Amino acid sequence: MIRPLIYDEESNILRILDQRLLPFEEVYVDARDGFQVADAIREMVLRGAPLIAVAGAYAILMEARKGADIGRLREVISALRHSRPTAVNLFNFLKTIENVLHETGNIKQRIEETVLQFIRAEKDLYDRIGEYGSGIIPPDATVMTFCNTGFLATIGIGTAIGVIYRAFQKGKVKEVIVPETRPYLQGARLTVYEMRKLGIPHRLITDNTAPFLMELGKVDVVVVGADRVVLNGDVANKIGTLSLALAAKEFGVPFYVALPTSTIDSRSRTFEGIRIEERGSEEVIFIRGNPITYPDTPTYHYAFDITPAKLISGYITERGIFRDISDALKAL
Ligand code: MRU
Repeated sequence: MIRPLIYDEESNILRILDQRLLPFEEVYVDARDGFQVADAIREMVLRGAPLIAVAGAYAILMEARKGADIGRLREVISALRHSRPTAVNLFNFLKTIENVLHETGNIKQRIEETVLQFIRAEKDLYDRIGEYGSGIIPPDATVMTFCNTGFLATIGIGTAIGVIYRAFQKGKVKEVIVPETRPYLQGARLTVYEMRKLGIPHRLITDNTAPFLMELGKVDVVVVGADRVVLNGDVANKIGTLSLALAAKEFGVPFYVALPTSTIDSRSRTFEGIRIEERGSEEVIFIRGNPITYPDTPTYHYAFDITPAKLISGYITERGIFRDISDALKAL
């Protein structure tokens, strides 16, 4: 299986699969220091909340191995913090690293240990999410997902796609409905690519088709990922998730969110004061370099929306499935 990140121990370089070129080209770009990783995150060379955090972890590891002093490490941490504002996994990881910087003793060694432990734990998580989540998929199911949440967005089989893949292995999935996910087209470009690689039957739809399919009774369950879940259970995920959740509620379709607990923002009860990323107009106006309207048209381009907890049937985590997200934090 192609990997979105390859860390080369010998050269201390992080090779990043350039997701902007998928599904047509599989090209890696090299990041040689922490700042280059931050640039790659901002420019969407890689994306997906859990993968962004792992890339940040490698950024810190590379810097520690280059002998960066505390001042430089703090600059790299700041660059990473300013890469993309909404997904919380990277922020949670950087907080842990900042705590290490306050320790006494061999800081370089402690950073290495912390990073490697984080990456090891990340590798194990997704099979557990998949196993728990596969239980909520009914037999012969048509499952709708959103954006991209699989092996391109994590260093495992993925969150929502981890659930779908495990259920598929158990013979429960008839078809996956993949909304294209305008404007960046993670569904059309990346999830379709993953479905092909995994051999899962799938069908691509334009985003505005999703509610009608639910009204027609053609969707059994919706499973999506998350970029940040706050303690009241509200979920920030790719823009368009909210419309799926509203439609699912209206038409009685169960709506689940799959996430590692590192996607929980345990410091925030609500989304008040949390920045929802707004990206440039060019991503709305151009598709693969081709304008679809006048290039100077004003746009809105929120990268994420917020789905209220009341629309969510349950949270599928590596610790089990919960109705209330704060129970996931207590369940250790
Ligand atoms: O803008 P992106 O592509 O980084 O957004 C990704 C998503 O919204 C995913 O649904 C989310 O990160 C969950 S990934 C396992």
